[in-house]
Amino acid sequence: MEHVELNDGRSIPQLGFGVFKVDPKQTEKIVSEALEVGYRHIDTAAIYRNEEGVGRAIAASGIPREELFITTKLWNDRHGDAPAAMAESLEKLGLDYVDLYLIHWPAPANDHYVRAWQSLIELRGQGLTRSIGVANFVVPYLQRLLDETDVVPAVNQIELHPAHQQPATVKLARENGIAIESWGPLGQAKYPLLEVPEVVAAAKAHGKTPAQAVIRWHLQNGYIVFPKTNHKERMVENFEVFDFELTEAEMASITALEREGRVGSHPSEVN
Ligand SMILES: NC(=O)c1ccc[n+]([C@@H]2O[C@H](COP(=O)([O-])OP(=O)(O)OC[C@H]3O[C@@H](n4cnc5c(N)ncnc54)[C@H](OP(=O)(O)O)[C@@H]3O)[C@@H](O)[C@H]2O)c1
Repeated sequence: MEHVELNDGRSIPQLGFGVFKVDPKQTEKIVSEALEVGYRHIDTAAIYRNEEGVGRAIAASGIPREELFITTKLWNDRHGDAPAAMAESLEKLGLDYVDLYLIHWPAPANDHYVRAWQSLIELRGQGLTRSIGVANFVVPYLQRLLDETDVVPAVNQIELHPAHQQPATVKLARENGIAIESWGPLGQAKYPLLEVPEVVAAAKAHGKTPAQAVIRWHLQNGYIVFPKTNHKERMVENFEVFDFELTEAEMASITALEREGRVGSHPSEVN
């Protein structure tokens, strides 16, 4: 497993497993399978309502806590109440600390995200999370945090896949040493990314599947990535991405698929 060094001195497994839309009733089983396959980095959130299942899978696995990297996120209506929200998440996960706690969306209409960030800084100081970061902080919101607070987020988790690469946000993050996490790395299966000729050709050239080629594109761009799947064979497929390398030309052909093709919500409109 490759790791990415964060700006706070910690490191994160570059490939993980996401559990957005994993049914809470199925989460323990699915996360247990992901841990069996070898994933050690799990990305959940309070709003996914499946933190308990993640916690049960962790407890049942017997894997030493320090070998796991667990992320959860503060929901939008808790920006003024982060210590209590974090305590609830830790309770559900059955953990003393998480590795990464994120503000899930800036929710700019509420205008509490700077205050939420100050709370996350305190929670990190208390040892309840090792690292802190943000999600969906496009340029104006990220710039405001940088201007008004003393701690630079360790990561910014944004919608990012070949049709929607958010270059301005990636540039600002990189200039400030903020690692990029790609959410929806496979476009959430909302457009036929895995049938695009450039992706199919790159996959074929290496005897790999289109999903593996796309995950490899994220990894070679330096992004942290945690595709979601309910299926064990796809967990294995998505994990087997460290035994080949896309050429510069293949990387460029996938990068050229940008078309501002957002599949999720605009960060200014989620409040
Ligand atoms: N911060 C945020 O606001 C935010 C928003 C969205 C997501 N996220 C995080 O990012 C993670 C990943 O994003 P995502 O779950 O939205 O979307 P995604 O990983 O891009 O796509 C998941 C979809 O791709 C399918 N899939 C997975 N592996 C496949 C493969 N090898 N071949 C073909 N299809 C495959 C899955 O189907 P099956 O399950 O049926 O296999 C599912 O329909 C989430 O789980 C969550 O942790 C964060």
